[in-house]
Amino acid sequence: MKILIFGKGYMGRRCAEAWGDEAILSDVYVETKADALNEINRVQPDVVFNAAGVKGVPNVDWCEDHQIETMRGNTVMPLVLADACAETGMYMLHMGSGCIFYGDSAHEDCAWREEDFGNPSATYSRSKWAADLVLSTLPNIGVARIRMPIDWKPAPGNLINKVANYPKVIDVENSVTIVDDMIDAFYQLLQKQAAGVFHVTNPGAMRHRELIELYQELVDSEHSCEWIHNDELVGQGLAVKGRSNNLLDSSNLIAIGIVMRPVGEALRDTMEKFAAAMQDEANK
Ligand SMILES: NC(=O)c1ccc[n+]([C@@H]2O[C@H](COP(=O)([O-])OP(=O)(O)OC[C@H]3O[C@@H](n4cnc5c(N)ncnc54)[C@H](OP(=O)(O)O)[C@@H]3O)[C@@H](O)[C@H]2O)c1
Repeated sequence: MKILIFGKGYMGRRCAEAWGDEAILSDVYVETKADALNEINRVQPDVVFNAAGVKGVPNVDWCEDHQIETMRGNTVMPLVLADACAETGMYMLHMGSGCIFYGDSAHEDCAWREEDFGNPSATYSRSKWAADLVLSTLPNIGVARIRMPIDWKPAPGNLINKVANYPKVIDVENSVTIVDDMIDAFYQLLQKQAAGVFHVTNPGAMRHRELIELYQELVDSEHSCEWIHNDELVGQGLAVKGRSNNLLDSSNLIAIGIVMRPVGEALRDTMEKFAAAMQDEANK
């Protein structure tokens, strides 16, 4: 399978590394449909994977006063790409985010279904939901939503690095995405050319406290942090907008036979590999 990847960031590069010769990581910065069409016609892929987007630096609070850049990267660009894919009869898998959901759903188990409507608050979340709202109506598009990626490979966007670097941490229960499982699930979605919305999160939920405890057990027994209440994040000036916390249901993913490991098992395995990667780095 020849996979044309747009977006040379954290996720685009991680997937490209894993997919090896099957992946072509594009250098093109897509602004117009012609940009996308030219690249698709040049590469002649079997499928397109959109890992491009604007998350803000150092974090999504940047989007609060960069609304136009955020809208261009997360809303306009995916629709332009989808238009080019429709014209060339190409399947596209688009990376969405579970952060379009805030709090509990109206379902008994409080988890959000793939078909549920988002209730985003922050600018970043709104821009992602705006794209999903339209992309989910198209026949040749899959929207793969992830949450808080947890990776064995140290990286600024890796939840392990993020949480380990915060002096003050909230302890909230969330659905999360283990990156190894995500890469495998994305590959299967591309192979199946699966249309619709998919929550690419590991079964079960994780509290930040569990992640820190595992970090202390396997990576750094000296590590400590201060635990604060979720409401204090904005109150203490640690974030401009409250972060989304939620549980996601992955029925659509399971229905097409894509299975991710239970979060507890996948988290321990990932933390063990993360510890080994940190040790390798220290030995260099
Ligand atoms: N990482 C997460 O925690 C997370 C969670 C949920 C969903 N997602 C979604 O997953 C996708 C990838 O995230 P990521 O973590 O890999 O972000 P990232 O590291 O910031 O990478 C995104 C890449 O997309 C590029 N880009 C932006 N606009 C583009 C355009 N018009 N054409 C081509 N490339 C463009 C960026 O280039 P520049 O840097 O040069 O602008 C950057 O290299 C995003 O859509 C994000 O919303 C990520």
